[in-house]
Amino acid sequence: MRSNLLILDYGSQYTQLIARSIRELGVFCEIVPGNLSFERFSTYNPKAIILSGGPASVNIEGAPKVDQKIIDLGLPTLGICYGMQLLTECFGGKVGGWSNENSDNIREFGRAELSLAEKSGVFSSITDDKLEVWMSHGDKVTELPSGFKTLASSSGSPIAAFSNEEKKIYGVQFHPEVNHTPKGKDLLSAFVFNVCNLEKDWNAGSFVKDTVQGIKEKVPTGNVVCGLSGGVDSTVAAVLVNQAIGHRLHCIFVDNGLLRKDEADEVNEMMKTLGLNLHFVDASERFLKALDGVTDPEKKRKIIGHTFIDVFEDEAKRISDVNYLVQGTLYPDVIESVSVIGQAVTIKSHHNVGGLKENMELELIEPLRELFKDEVRKIGSSMGIPDSFISRQPFPGPGLAVRCLGELKKERLEKLRVADAIVRQEVNEAGLNKEIWQSFAVLLPVQSVGVMGDGRTYEECIAIRAVTSRDGMTADWYSFPEDMLRRMSNRIVNETAGVNRVVLDISSKPPSTIEWE
Ligand code: XMP
Repeated sequence: MRSNLLILDYGSQYTQLIARSIRELGVFCEIVPGNLSFERFSTYNPKAIILSGGPASVNIEGAPKVDQKIIDLGLPTLGICYGMQLLTECFGGKVGGWSNENSDNIREFGRAELSLAEKSGVFSSITDDKLEVWMSHGDKVTELPSGFKTLASSSGSPIAAFSNEEKKIYGVQFHPEVNHTPKGKDLLSAFVFNVCNLEKDWNAGSFVKDTVQGIKEKVPTGNVVCGLSGGVDSTVAAVLVNQAIGHRLHCIFVDNGLLRKDEADEVNEMMKTLGLNLHFVDASERFLKALDGVTDPEKKRKIIGHTFIDVFEDEAKRISDVNYLVQGTLYPDVIESVSVIGQAVTIKSHHNVGGLKENMELELIEPLRELFKDEVRKIGSSMGIPDSFISRQPFPGPGLAVRCLGELKKERLEKLRVADAIVRQEVNEAGLNKEIWQSFAVLLPVQSVGVMGDGRTYEECIAIRAVTSRDGMTADWYSFPEDMLRRMSNRIVNETAGVNRVVLDISSKPPSTIEWE
């Protein structure tokens, strides 16, 4: 799909929020690195641009810059925070840094009140003279470029918003894309529709229609394979491709013996209801054999990843004339891999099917590569995937392996399955499934003494883990009502043979991680 609006990214933690807000307005947009060359930029041919915020200071050597030729095109432009400071530089104004010596030059972090001098352009839909906004900056504009005027000020930023209306250029020192700027969406809407005159071109229906047509054209003949994980992304990707090519799509679901209670049957049932051509492979013995005696978390992940590839390839070889592999890659993965600025450190190696393409020399079909997770859910719903499935909590690729600490024996996995099913059932019955990001049981390789009836026990321990989170990157532990904790604890000890103790995990991420391994 072609973007009418491009977001040049200078490394702000909020850049993805800008894109999501614009798309929620019904306008398709993409994020590109802030230092994109004019030549690359021209291939997108956008009608408007937004320069994001970022942690750098424009006055420091090596700070990311915008290619002046992009600015010279004269497109309607909105600069946010660092983006506003870049525009100031491009048009000959001045940006000053904060300092302890100069009391006039203070930093602003958090809530601030804006006084509006003029309600035009991005402020055209605002009726009040004051506006609550979210600031997060050290530097600020100290001298307007010629031809620009101040639209708003705050106590820490005399030039908190500016414009050159003739050129359709706007800059705001605050962040309209975050929830803490309550009218921020109105400002972005005014920019997109009033200033840029863009049209709504983005909704679930048009996405499905265009994508299905694109896949039809890309794969007129032959077969396509897809690894289903039972999660939302791979399912939505498969349903989309299925709409385009029907049973020429072969979905391979591998039971690795590390699934939750009844999960294999549930997934099997759901995929058939959705009309997918499913190849169900029970490889649980093969996985458990390969994992025999392994306790190191990273080794577990590697073995599971490699075994998955072997099993998948064996199954795919039985299908003739295969040239394509479907993957449920999402937009955040794509942006991270192209961004010049943000660099993530690997804490845990995540298991995915990345090794497949190289091994099998297949071309990729990634129908969700332009979408955010919430958009994937909307697309899924619009194609008739039931809400109970769409709103499933994330489940890691290595499954129960990273929740069964120590050796992965069949009996231990079964013990964990029983306890985990109790946690899942209680959470579902309390209607908390959506509110909680993930909730599950963890089996600890720790034996402790207990007393049951008149006898002494010496058995293992279950930890209950539940967290709230927006994206899995950070998380807070969930505070269950006391009666619910009591019920879960009683049920786990009474119904799970070999468990005599239950503990509650009250750690957030960071410093802990969501999974225990
Ligand atoms: P952590 O434990 O790193 O988890 O805080 C963050 C999110 O990622 C999921 N997770 C995984 N997903 N393969 C996956 O596909 C993995 O190896 C893996 N490890 C963790 C985890 O469930 C949480 O949602």
